[in-house]
Parts: sequence; structure tokens; C-alpha cells
Amino acid sequence: MRLLAPLTLLLALACSACSGGSSDAPEAAAPMISPILTSKDAQDPWSYAKPAIARVTHVALDLDLNFDKKQVGGKVTLDVLAKPGVETVILDSDGLVISSVTDEAGKALPFKVGPTVAGKGAPVTIGMGARRKIVITYSAPDAAALQWLNPEQTAGGKQPYLLSQGQPTLNRSWIPTQDSPGIRQTWEARITAPEALTVVMSGLSAGKPEADGAGRRAFSFTMDKPVAPYLVAIAAGDLAFRKLGPRTGVWTEPSMLDAAAAELVDTESMVDAAEALYGPYRWGRYDMIVLPPSFPYGGMENPTMTFLTPTFIAGDRSLTGLVAHELAHSWSGNLVTNANWADSWINEGVTSYFENRIIEKLYGQKRASQEAALAFAQMEDALKEEGAANPITALHLRPTQAAPDGGNSGIIYDKGAQFLRTVEHIVGREKFDTWLRSWFDRHAFQPATSAMFLADLRENLVKGDAALEKKLLLDDWVYKPGLPGNAVLPDPAAFAEVDAAAAAYARTKRVDPTAYSGWTTAERMRLLAKLPRTMGTADLAALDKDLGLSQSGNNEILFAWLELALQNRYDPAVPVAEKFLAHVGRRKFVAPLFKELMAQDAWGRAIAKQIYAKTRPGYHSVTQGTVDKIMAGGG
Ligand code: BES
Ligand code: ZN
Repeated sequence: MRLLAPLTLLLALACSACSGGSSDAPEAAAPMISPILTSKDAQDPWSYAKPAIARVTHVALDLDLNFDKKQVGGKVTLDVLAKPGVETVILDSDGLVISSVTDEAGKALPFKVGPTVAGKGAPVTIGMGARRKIVITYSAPDAAALQWLNPEQTAGGKQPYLLSQGQPTLNRSWIPTQDSPGIRQTWEARITAPEALTVVMSGLSAGKPEADGAGRRAFSFTMDKPVAPYLVAIAAGDLAFRKLGPRTGVWTEPSMLDAAAAELVDTESMVDAAEALYGPYRWGRYDMIVLPPSFPYGGMENPTMTFLTPTFIAGDRSLTGLVAHELAHSWSGNLVTNANWADSWINEGVTSYFENRIIEKLYGQKRASQEAALAFAQMEDALKEEGAANPITALHLRPTQAAPDGGNSGIIYDKGAQFLRTVEHIVGREKFDTWLRSWFDRHAFQPATSAMFLADLRENLVKGDAALEKKLLLDDWVYKPGLPGNAVLPDPAAFAEVDAAAAAYARTKRVDPTAYSGWTTAERMRLLAKLPRTMGTADLAALDKDLGLSQSGNNEILFAWLELALQNRYDPAVPVAEKFLAHVGRRKFVAPLFKELMAQDAWGRAIAKQIYAKTRPGYHSVTQGTVDKIMAGGG
């Protein structure tokens, strides 16, 4: 923290602008921000920035990756658009060590780092005077966004690795900028790293890496489209690339390349399918990186470079809904972005709907309706768990209810998708698709709120048709808890055979292995979800023996089995769970398994503690944070 005397004065001078007094100065020619951001429901409580007064428009990073110290450091140059007369700009930061702030010519500028709030970080207030370009020199010694892997945590075992996760509010831990999803910035980067490593980012590569002759290489990237700050991402490691199609390809460690490329062979067709549905892919390339298994999410839609967990590789492309999902975010999320995290369904719900449409185009109606039925069941579980009258089950949340780093996916993702499926069903697919495509076009590169979504739907789809308006129950879907009465139900035929087998299990205590071996992954997942929650040791042993669950190469199946087994204190599953938890850091898998163990008596708690003591250091801070709470009894 550093406070130079003139800053107090500068802050005082800027204060008329801070309190919204804009009458004294005319608007700058370029629009400061999307007008939507001034509405109340667009305010972002998780950011200190005041973009209506001074907004960062471009970020130029010049950083070094120090794998010995496990930290990034260097400088960032920010372009600021501010109202005339405004002399301060407020950035977000979290744990950054800022050594200087200067103007372009190197003249020191006063700055102050405010107090840190958990989950939000600390404001950096800079007295820029009349300048609109500032240079910050800093390091990020303990960035929550970044995970530095030792060679043993990689497939190759020889080189270290770095990966980042920005959404929702983590990028402020390695980039001092305004970190709010309603704000958009173009960016460029120059990143230096040890020469054995390749660096990739969520932007287009700007030429070949340059060696400095002293063991390091510099990689350059640009993102010339304005993106929300959570979408800047970086990874570095022993990486190889394989082309998949004219604009698609995959990066991963060399030993993973064949398996990754085989699993992702449909990607180019997915991009074509997505474009045919909802308009042009606007980002140039669509590349992916298959990361080490510690990546805390299944996937992350970083523009031009989707980040993927390797746990989606099943050998049969049965889990590529993940890829369809992250690709769909190129429209819903990256092009049209939730203005703040209380409207996450604008990103995730719309994307989950879109994902299913891509799956239908690529793999047909059967797989699509099965995956939709699984999602519907997850929504029902969420409604049951939270209580259908609980306000947390509305799509639009109050900031105090929202959990920016995930929330309840059964609501945000699955109820969100179900809303669009219902509108589609009522108005007809053709009309609905025309509207959704036009929604993306009208709001391209802009933030969006629930209110905007409904206003646009009314203006361009309902068009004053009172009977249609009445049928749609739009406000119920978005603002009310529970499931509106017009919800379209999943295809009852989707799981007819599996549901019959699950029902028979109650009597026979057996699942026919031959039938099971002919089932799709979705059908197998359905079976595991439908089996009784309370099972005896002998029945669990028979099930595992018949279906080979402990040996499943499909991580969704293995996870569902381990959950069931641990719920029932099935000892033989413990070593399998331990191995899984030591290898995989994906929060969706890791957190529920620790939760199951901790929900048991002393038996489970002891196992959980013993495993976590060993596996915690290998997890990303996102997973650590969630599991720490579970272990403390608060999860
Ligand atoms: N954008 C999300 C990941 C995310 C959400 C990160 C909230 C931080 C906060 C990503 O697109 C996603 O939804 N991933 C899912 C996969 C999907 C198929 C449901 C995941 O990681 O499991
Ligand atoms: Zn998503």
C-alpha cells in the first residue's frame, strides 16, 4: 500500500464525477460504456470499477513466467477512456505487488491499494490526471487464477506447466485491470518463458516465438475484439499442436495428442453446425487445449482457445457435449455476456440449450433427447434440494443470492436451458431460431441482463401477441422460483429401457450386463442415477462385478459409481476413490466425493482427511477453496 500526498487531492477533485455528476462535462465522443450498464440490475457488486466514469479499453501485457518462484511479473499498459475532467481510474486487484504506476513517459503517478475483501480483492485507485495511458509494474506472487504444476503433475513428467482460470473474478489476481463481465477490453500480450515451454493464450498468436539466446522465448498474442476481462487466459507447458480442420486444432502434451485429436475429431463440424444455427463464428480460429487433470473445470470458453479437462476423453466421443458447450459460449457468453454474475443463466443456460442443439445436429435426436432428459432430471434434483419455493431457484438472482463461481448448475444451466426449450416448443423451432440468432446479432460484443433478454424477446418474438404472451409465462421463468406450469417435459421414450431396468433392479437386484454393454453413456448414467441410494455391500459388489464400474474408462460413469459406493460405505471403492482424487482436480468430481465421505460417520471423515492431506497440494485454488469448506464442515 502506498499513498502519495497529491492523491488525496486528486481523489477529492474526481469526486463529483464519482457521485454520478455528469452535468458539468459533455460526453466523450466514443460511448463510455454500453448504456445498459447504468441500469440497476447491471451493477456488478464483485468489482470496484466505475466504468461509467473511467473505463479500461485496452490491456497490453508484458510478462515473464517464473517457474522457479511460481509467479508472473512484468508490466501492463492500460488505455483508459474517461469522462472529460476525470482524473482517477479504479482497477480491481487481488494479492498483486505493485511496484510502480507511471505514465507512458515513465513519470510516476500516485496510486493507492485499498483494503482486501475476500472474493473481491482490493481496489487500486490511480491518479492519472489528464493522462489516458498508464503503466503498472507488478508481480503476482500467489495468484488464485494460476496453477503452477510440477513436472510430476503432467503427462510427460519432465517439464513444469502453468494454467489459468479467470471466471468469475480470478483474473484480478494476475492482471491489474477492471475485472467485471459487463466491461469489454481488447488486449495484447508478450509473454516470456523457459525455451522448453510453449505458451498459448485466448487470443490469436502474433507470429513465431522469439528466442533471446539466453534460454528464454517470447510469445506474442493479440485479441482485437473487445472481450470481458474474465476471458483472458494463459497456459504454458510442453505442448504440441494438431490441426483438426481449416479453423480448428488442439494443443496438448505430446503423449496426449493422439487421444485428444481422436476425441475431438468432430470439432470442425460442430463449428459449422453452430454457425448454421445461430450465425457466423466471429473469432477466427477455434482451437482447444487439453490440460492436465488438475484443471478445476470441465471446460472454459476462453476465446479462440477453449480450455478442457482431459477427463472428457472417454475413447468414444460420448462426452463431447462439453466441447459443444464451450463452443456455444462463443455466442452465448463471449459475444453476448452476462452484465454481472447474478444473471449467469444468460451465459450458462443459453449455452446449455445451444449445446444440445449442436449435439442434435451432429449425433442425432436420440443422443440429444437423452442428454436433455439427464439435464431435466438434474434440474428436478436441484429444485427438490433447494425447495421449489426457494428464491435461489429463480434464473435471475439478487447479487446477495448469486455464487459467481458456479451457483446451482441445476438451475442456472438446466432450468435456463429448459426455459428456452419451452419457448421453442411454444413458438416453433423456426421462429425461435430466427429470434435467438437475431438476439446474438443485436447484442454482439455487448453485456446483457435478464430484463434485456425479456424485453428483446417481447419486442422481436412475441410482438404484442397477447395470447402468446400469456402462454409463455416469461416473467415466471426468469424471476420466480420453481418450475412454471408450461415447462416442456423430456421425451418419455428417451430412457424407457433403462428406467425399466432400474425399476426391475428393486426386485431382482441385478442389471443385465449384456443390456448394459449395449447402452449409451447417457443411458448408463441414467441407470446409476436411478438405482436405489441405499445399497448393501453384497449388492454393490455384484453390480461392480457385472458392470465393471470400478474399471470404467469413462470418468462420468466412474464418478457416479464412486458416489454411490461411498454413500454406502463400500470399502472396496476407497482405494479407487483415492486414486481418482489423487489424479483428477475437476471440482465437479472432487467436491461431491469429499462431501459424501464427510457426510458419513468417523469412518468416512477419517478417510476424507487422510486423502485430502495428500491430494490438496495438487488442486487448483478453485477446488481447494470449495473442498476446504467441506472439510471444515461448511460445505
Ligand atoms: N464457463 C463455465 C465454467 C465456469 C462457470 C467457471 C462458472 C467459473 C464459474 C464452463 O463453460 C462450463 O460450464 N463448464 C462445465 C461444462 C459443461 C458441459 C456443463 C464444467 O466445467 O463442468
Ligand atoms: Zn458454460
